Amino acid sequence: MTCDVSNAVNGKELAADSGVMSGVLTMRAGATPQKIDDRQLDKGAAPLISGSTAGAADADPSDFKAAMRLLAGGTVVVTVGAGDERTGFTATSVVSLSAEPPRLMFGISKTSSSWEVLCGSGTFAVNLLRDEDKPVADRFAGRGGVKGKDRYAGQEWRVRKTGVPTLTGAIAGFDCEVEEFLFRYDHVIVIGRVREAWTGSAAQPLVYWQGDYRSLE
Ligand SMILES: Cc1cc2nc3c(=O)[nH]c(=O)nc-3n(C[C@H](O)[C@H](O)[C@H](O)COP(=O)(O)O)c2cc1C
Repeated sequence: MTCDVSNAVNGKELAADSGVMSGVLTMRAGATPQKIDDRQLDKGAAPLISGSTAGAADADPSDFKAAMRLLAGGTVVVTVGAGDERTGFTATSVVSLSAEPPRLMFGISKTSSSWEVLCGSGTFAVNLLRDEDKPVADRFAGRGGVKGKDRYAGQEWRVRKTGVPTLTGAIAGFDCEVEEFLFRYDHVIVIGRVREAWTGSAAQPLVYWQGDYRSLE
């Protein structure tokens, strides 16, 4: 399985000077990545790419960051891999994409140590953290230099359908296969096909806001 960016959007090759730093890689578990073609547009599998914004100035990145700090997010751990290869990362970018069929999406940095594992395996789980799980969030964010399977220490995990470990004490969870990777700038948007969703602990969620973890109460 290669994780290279396919130089195509909606089946059309991008001109080298198009300025669009993007690509599309569809994945079915165990299948060869495919370029999106026009037939898949009908099934909603292909992304909509906006037209060029050449000539229009972007917002100031520091204004953008300051404004985004005020967006409160639920904190999750995205787990990837299995056995000694297991790893994962803390994320706030997970959102629902579709209920019928059940699909979710998140962004992952291409520099994340989880990226290669995710791209190679095509499976992941999303684990919603409790407000007492700040140490778990810190470990999966790599604070203190904790890497790979050592991030799983001190918690109970259960494997479900895809083989990826899921956090037993989570508020809720989703066991997923990758449906599509969309390469954008230094991140990859991951669309997940949800094989199993469940609710668990009745605890309050771990909220991230203004650069710190919060409780709802
Ligand atoms: C609150 C919080 C939210 C984060 N959200 C994301 C995210 O949505 N996507 C992402 O790629 N990294 C996110 N990160 C960064 C990752 O958790 C992690 O630090 C990064 O992937 C580097 O991990 P590595 O040590 O495994 O390379 C977030 C970090 C924190 C603390």
